[in-house]
Amino acid sequence: MHKNLIEDSKQIARLLDNVVVEANRFLAGLDTLPAGAVLPKKHDPVYLSAEGLGANQTLEYFKKRYVAWMSGSAGPRYYGLVTGGVTPAALAGDWLVSVYDQNNVGADESIAPQIELETLGLLRELFGLPEQYEGSFVTGATMSNFVGLALGRQWIGTQMGVNFAEKGIWGIEPIRIFSGTPHSSVYKALSMLGMGRKAITIVPCLPEREAVDVSILEEYLKKQNNIPCIVVANAGTVNTVDFDDLNAIAELRTRYKFWMHVDAAFGGFASCSPQYRTFVQGLEFADSITIDAHKWLNVPYDAAMQFTCHQALQAEVFQNAAEYLDQEISSTNYVHLTPENSRRLRAIPSWFTLMAYGRQGYAEIVERNCRLAQWLGTQINDSDMFELLSPVRLNGICFTFATEKEKITIEGVRKYLKKLQEDGDVFLTPTIYKSVPAIRVSITNWRTTQEDVEIAWRAIQQGINVQR
Ligand SMILES: Cc1ncc(COP(=O)(O)O)c(C=O)c1O
Repeated sequence: MHKNLIEDSKQIARLLDNVVVEANRFLAGLDTLPAGAVLPKKHDPVYLSAEGLGANQTLEYFKKRYVAWMSGSAGPRYYGLVTGGVTPAALAGDWLVSVYDQNNVGADESIAPQIELETLGLLRELFGLPEQYEGSFVTGATMSNFVGLALGRQWIGTQMGVNFAEKGIWGIEPIRIFSGTPHSSVYKALSMLGMGRKAITIVPCLPEREAVDVSILEEYLKKQNNIPCIVVANAGTVNTVDFDDLNAIAELRTRYKFWMHVDAAFGGFASCSPQYRTFVQGLEFADSITIDAHKWLNVPYDAAMQFTCHQALQAEVFQNAAEYLDQEISSTNYVHLTPENSRRLRAIPSWFTLMAYGRQGYAEIVERNCRLAQWLGTQINDSDMFELLSPVRLNGICFTFATEKEKITIEGVRKYLKKLQEDGDVFLTPTIYKSVPAIRVSITNWRTTQEDVEIAWRAIQQGINVQR
């Protein structure tokens, strides 16, 4: 055995103690760490050494080389993308994932598949989904959308009497997908699935909204003449956090043949609070559902769930036939249900956080985040410097500069956001909403308090001078 491995294995307790020291140092400073780091122009290259440094020295070198440029993206004033933090319980669980290092392919040599199944059950309860929804953990909402759309594709095959998983989709007419405001990852998933980005038909939305106009959707479905298709319903759009009417879309299935996939990557968490639950009414009628864990559940990257009430189709698509693997199809034989074969037991952080904070803990996080988004939205709306582009429905805000729209450029928005990033008090991301260059805020972190949004609001106002 290599001498460093021998030495490190003897010193593993000391190594982990040092990691704990570094973790505590980082977490203690997270509330004041610049929300978005300003990176060095150039990092000196590193070369593979012959002997290696040993683990403790590697830790020291890593800290020196990188830690100064870690952003506060897990902290309370990072409002870019849709980024949750990590609850203490989720962190504890996540560390143990690597310690236990179980390969959750689903073999019955370990309790791992049972843990994943149990966690999915807890999540089903959290989201109020009926028992027939089964699922799995995947790496993120993009992969969850991929799985949902793969199931939709397979279902269309069954309607046409063809097993696409066996024969492929060669020679068939393009499968049509209808959606009002799909997330970019839906296009990516369609590209990966061979259905193509252009298979999406964008259906007009309600006036001043990102929610699909269901009566127009019905007209499009009517024109399909009974040819089965897919509808991607959106429960929480990234720009304005708008919600399709899921009940109304589900009702269309009494007259038209389509697979209903709901992308509820973060909007699904509206169901945690009686105050916001109505946004996702009808979720329980979906054929497949995407919900992210590394967003509002506040577990570390990379974890999301896919749910479906058609698990048999899932086994048709993802079955992995090999002599050395158990071929039984069951809810825990994940090797036959997921895009991966070998899999990290990424359910553990979710299990920890759900057990630690329960239903009320998540209602509190969701309601507090939404209340803070409302507060910040009100300041923006009342200010003569900015203009709110959409009402604040949940945890997101979409706004722009209060000036003639033609004068606002995406470069101006980026310059302004760069200044905010350099100042370090808040991190926001740019967007274009209905052709207007704009700014997004997403408050999704369990750490965020009223004091944080007040600091953020001061920074947002101070940064404005740069744009002008
Ligand atoms: C609605 C929606 N769908 C899908 C995604 C993609 O998520 P991920 O980055 O976890 O793959 C996001 C990310 O923000 C999202 O908001």
